[in-house]
Amino acid sequence: MHVRLHIENQRLYTLLELSTLLSSTRNVNQLFKLLAIQTSSLLNAERTSIFVYDAARNELWSKVAEGTGRKTIRIPSNRGIAGHVLRTGEMLNVRDAYQHPAFLKEVDRQTGFVTRTILGCPMRSHSGECTGVIEALNKRAGVFTTQDEKMLMSIAALAAVSLENSFLIEGQMDLFESFIESSVHALGDRDQMTYGHTIRVAYFADKLARAISDCRHTPFDKITFSEEDLRKLRFAALLHDIGKITVPEAILNKRDKLFDHEVEQIRQRFDHIKLAEKIRALENGGADAHGYRRFCQRLDQDFELILRLLPPGPVSDADRQVLDGMCRTIYRINGRDVPQLTEREYRHLVLARGNLTEDEFELMKAHVKKTWDILAKIYWPKDLKQIPVWASSHHERMDGTGYPLGLKAAEIPIEGQILAVADIFDALTATDRPYKKRNSISEAKNILQGMATAGHVNPDMVELMGTLQDRDLSPGAERV
Ligand SMILES: [Fe+2]
Ligand SMILES: [Fe+2]
Repeated sequence: MHVRLHIENQRLYTLLELSTLLSSTRNVNQLFKLLAIQTSSLLNAERTSIFVYDAARNELWSKVAEGTGRKTIRIPSNRGIAGHVLRTGEMLNVRDAYQHPAFLKEVDRQTGFVTRTILGCPMRSHSGECTGVIEALNKRAGVFTTQDEKMLMSIAALAAVSLENSFLIEGQMDLFESFIESSVHALGDRDQMTYGHTIRVAYFADKLARAISDCRHTPFDKITFSEEDLRKLRFAALLHDIGKITVPEAILNKRDKLFDHEVEQIRQRFDHIKLAEKIRALENGGADAHGYRRFCQRLDQDFELILRLLPPGPVSDADRQVLDGMCRTIYRINGRDVPQLTEREYRHLVLARGNLTEDEFELMKAHVKKTWDILAKIYWPKDLKQIPVWASSHHERMDGTGYPLGLKAAEIPIEGQILAVADIFDALTATDRPYKKRNSISEAKNILQGMATAGHVNPDMVELMGTLQDRDLSPGAERV
């Protein structure tokens, strides 16, 4: 009697423990694993299967261990012992599986497992609906007892509530995910370049976060990203440039230091200058045809120089002087004094870095603040509250010289730091940027190294990125 009481207490204690464990995870895969292990242990069974009823497809599905993960299997809801339990809504204690008409012998044949005894119990939602079946297989000694039946009933009640909660939460996450993906697609309709960039940043961020998780050395030895954490990071990555929807398309797609229509304006102006010069020459008797030709040749050379300086890149002092001379050369066209080159055109052409003027760059930079404004307006569940912060910190720099807030290393969340590295890595290796050539993976790693030394990005992350193989850093056909 005393021994039996002790065993009962032990079981109750383990059941309580299971209830605490179940409430500690919302991940369906982990729940399945936990339930299977704990139920087998509590009932002294060799194996436990959990089947969930999918009313829309009239199927039962389960997760089975496969390699390091779990894969989903599906069976028609009226088949097997699980189907029988689901249909009748009653517990079933099978003492000899092969003698039961509902037992599916082919499953044993496929898995190599030999089923002897089965204890199947329905799982019910809070509204009493049958939502699935939990099955303990092969009692290690004898058959499943009445005590086991009571125990499995308690476990099934706990399991039903936990699974229902985790499905609700997963459903909410799925909803967010589909909403985020749909927004990113909408962004792609307007701006294909940012769309591709966004998808790749999510890919690189995931690779880097997994490398951090696997890293056994300081400062990452205590940092682990669970699959849930990685999913949140992916959301932040997909949304990090959502603010670009407010940046004028012309600036987003700007290729050279001047827009095409501005170059066309210069070409037309030069034609007008030539025409005015021709008229002037004719008015003066048209004698100096040679001088007029030389004049046109000089203008053509100037125009060629302008075309040569259009792509982003440094400008020599000599070229700068020629441009300066153009600004100061005034022609009289249609009764108006017109400089050969305007101040504005000059400022664009002498840009030493990139293709944007300061004003245009400010407009571009504003996208991060917009990312924040857009995301901060969304009502995020508690678990996802940090996403706006992570997404809008991808242009912060470790030394505090970044934007929009000028945060320093300790103030930038690790997720933001990961996004910063992934963002730069893609900017360097992307093939679809009209204004610059692609760097190879090793060139990009070197440039990142330089940026880490300069205090812009996390040096430990860059070092880790450096250890990733080329194939890990080739997103290929990855899509949302
Ligand atoms: Fe950005
Ligand atoms: Fe970006």
